[in-house]
Amino acid sequence: MREVKVELGGRSYQIQIGSELLDSIGRQCKKLSLGRRCMVITDSNVGPLYGEKVGASLSAAGFESVQVTVRAGEQTKSWRTAAYCHDQLAAHRMERGSFIVALGGGVIGDLAGFVAATYLRGVAFVQVPTTLLAQVDSSVGGKTGINLTSGKNLVGAFYQPRHVFCDLSTLDSLPDRELRSGLSEVVKYGIIYDDVFFRRLEKLMPALVGRQSKALGEIVARCCAIKADVVGQDETETGLRAILNFGHTIGHALEAVTHYKKYLHGEAISIGQVAAARLSCLQAGLTSAEARSMETLLEKAGLPVHLTLKKQQVESLIQAMSLDKKVSDGVVKFVLASRLGQVQWGCKVPMEQVREVLYQLV
Ligand SMILES: NC(=O)c1ccc[n+]([C@@H]2O[C@H](COP(=O)([O-])OP(=O)(O)OC[C@H]3O[C@@H](n4cnc5c(N)ncnc54)[C@H](O)[C@@H]3O)[C@@H](O)[C@H]2O)c1
Ligand SMILES: [Zn+2]
Repeated sequence: MREVKVELGGRSYQIQIGSELLDSIGRQCKKLSLGRRCMVITDSNVGPLYGEKVGASLSAAGFESVQVTVRAGEQTKSWRTAAYCHDQLAAHRMERGSFIVALGGGVIGDLAGFVAATYLRGVAFVQVPTTLLAQVDSSVGGKTGINLTSGKNLVGAFYQPRHVFCDLSTLDSLPDRELRSGLSEVVKYGIIYDDVFFRRLEKLMPALVGRQSKALGEIVARCCAIKADVVGQDETETGLRAILNFGHTIGHALEAVTHYKKYLHGEAISIGQVAAARLSCLQAGLTSAEARSMETLLEKAGLPVHLTLKKQQVESLIQAMSLDKKVSDGVVKFVLASRLGQVQWGCKVPMEQVREVLYQLV
């Protein structure tokens, strides 16, 4: 088992990474001075697979737990489901000392974290991420929230969990496409922070795609350590934390113009990273050989590196980006790499150059 600490003074916490961790959740929670009662919030895919195990572990350690299962999918990150969870907490007479267990992918982590941040002005919560994306990214760092009809993640709070359990065994049931989507964020950590890790990923990629748990454990731990380091320096994204958005400026726009249907998050971010790498060559001194390595690694992960869009959709993408708040005077702000393992944020790129690079990717 590996452990990574997120250093945030009084709000510091441990991330545990290992196989078959679900059985030890109860025992571990005992060490966190939590109350006796808790609510496990999970979704309709994950609940039937792992809910019982988590419940059994909690009750064996003397906790009284109830499970609330919400519909799987992004549309669950809503006011409506958050209110349903709040009502369930009240109906079960959960108190200030009670805690929430978020069992699922990033959707459940964001939703349950937000519910924890707001119920009775804040109750403790622990994260049990069950997708690769959630294990390497969303469960760490304390961003919680829900979507509005006018946009994603528009309501939320910075609210740190008390502990994170990354059980690698839960990834066994994850569909291939979801696993690959998570690998996109894994590659991102190499690009933004650690060239040695990037080169290691080049070696490990076949083992990762093949779900070898030793390789998965190594990379989940490294990604969590990088995220912990970044968040420890800039918890509320006043500066450095923005580097985690490498590939996300175009990636987010791509998700939006395709109505969150065509691409999974990691897939859109893969294309976004290829575009950001090419812009980095034009604007930040990245060599074309380094940009090619990035593209090759994403391809090896089975991720898309080209825009499979019609011309009309590319134009909508450019238009959506031009209308974005981050754009002024035809200039967009990007996170760009000056070399492998090092990025800068707030780089101004003319929209014309973005257009040029996007058309290269069609
Ligand atoms: N808070 C943050 O810092 C942060 C960072 C990145 C992404 N996010 C958010 O995370 C969300 C995406 O997370 P995600 O990709 O984990 O999506 P998700 O939670 O929707 O999970 C993807 C799918 O896999 C299923 N699933 C989860 N674990 C499984 C398992 N072990 N076996 C089988 N099926 C399983 C889910 O039910 C769902 O259908 C988005 O809402 C995004 O905004 C948040
Ligand atoms: Zn992302």
